[in-house]
Amino acid sequence: MAFWRFSPFSVLLGLLSLLLLHPITTTTTSTIGIRLSIIRKPSDDNLPVFREAPAFRNSDQCGSSDSDRIHVAMTLDGNYLRGTMAAVLSMLQHSTCPENLAFHFLSAHLAPELYSSIKSTFPYLNFTIYRFDPNRVRGMISKSIRQALDQPLNYARIHLADIIPTNVGRVIYLDSDLVVVDDIEKLWNVDMEDKVVAAPEYCHANFTQYFTGTFWSDSNLSKTFEGRNPCYFNTGVMVVNVDKWRKGRYTQRVEEWMAVQKQRRIYQLGSLPPFLLVLAGNIKAVDHRWNQHGLGGDNFEGKCRSLHPGPISLLHWSGKGKPWLRLDSRKPCTVDYLWAPYDLYRSSRHWLEE
Ligand SMILES: *[C@@H]1O[C@H](CO)[C@@H](O)[C@H](O)[C@H]1NC(C)=O
Ligand SMILES: *[C@@H]1O[C@H](CO)[C@@H](O)[C@H](O)[C@H]1NC(C)=O
Ligand SMILES: *[C@@H]1O[C@H](CO)[C@@H](O)[C@H](O)[C@H]1NC(C)=O
Repeated sequence: MAFWRFSPFSVLLGLLSLLLLHPITTTTTSTIGIRLSIIRKPSDDNLPVFREAPAFRNSDQCGSSDSDRIHVAMTLDGNYLRGTMAAVLSMLQHSTCPENLAFHFLSAHLAPELYSSIKSTFPYLNFTIYRFDPNRVRGMISKSIRQALDQPLNYARIHLADIIPTNVGRVIYLDSDLVVVDDIEKLWNVDMEDKVVAAPEYCHANFTQYFTGTFWSDSNLSKTFEGRNPCYFNTGVMVVNVDKWRKGRYTQRVEEWMAVQKQRRIYQLGSLPPFLLVLAGNIKAVDHRWNQHGLGGDNFEGKCRSLHPGPISLLHWSGKGKPWLRLDSRKPCTVDYLWAPYDLYRSSRHWLEE
């Protein structure tokens, strides 16, 4: 994965400081390797710089009481910040009541730089940053087939209900590699009936492939899906009834499956399968227009995907490719031009100045 911080210049600078700090005689090749990886590790003090977004104002018909507020939760990570900014802008731009949006960001560290980055990009945004302690999940993550899926922050959504304030009863959880091109309030107002999660579901997907032979051949495990019509859903776009989630102890239920996975490999991917184990076949189905996923393309070949037919309210670059990386590398997919208008990125301040 290409990070914007990995400019050859920053590596050079890192090497230089290394040579200045350590006598050459004690610097073996292997320490250089280790040092370099430390220097390259994403930190938040050299975040990219963004343009300031305009102020978005409520239209006349918008209420202003607590019950009119729309709660959106996302993770916050220096490497995906450009995606987060674009996602936020897209929501504000298409909202009838943009001032009613309240953002809840989960971050592995409470870096003041992250706060000021959002504040300076969206001066009027109502947002809170919460610390999500990676240690809460670190011991429970087992290696998946895609390293990017093993990041602790990927599992933060499991703990969402415990992190955001208890007076928030419903929240929309969104990944950072998407843009919303419709009024988010329509998704917010979905009738969840008695369900804990609402999301688009895909019942024609071959469900078998999400779990290993170990899982299907053990009747104790595979009977989990007995009496359910389990359908795939993408955990990158979910409306969550966090009240019900808390009361039903869903965090623990998902974690129980992660513990089973630790013992016996029952699935290949990261955070999705334990969600499917607990919730598949028991969610409120939402129109597919709310998650045109897979636009990141093929996991291994970086192939471009085209749009599925039908109306679209949300475009999601799940998969390996991210639109900002492909645009920067001048090898964009056609769908990436749909993301570009929401890009607030100005420059990477650090090494490119002067
Ligand atoms: C911001 O959102 C919170 C809910 O997360 C709400 O309590 C607060 O009143 C809002 N602030 C403003 C200025 O609207
Ligand atoms: C579903 O996937 C499994 C495992 O990948 C495969 O064995 C099975 O034939 C597939 N079923 C259908 C209906 O495609
Ligand atoms: C299934 O569960 C039962 C009761 O918990 C246990 O006795 C049995 O050994 C289990 N079977 C397998 C294949 O794990």
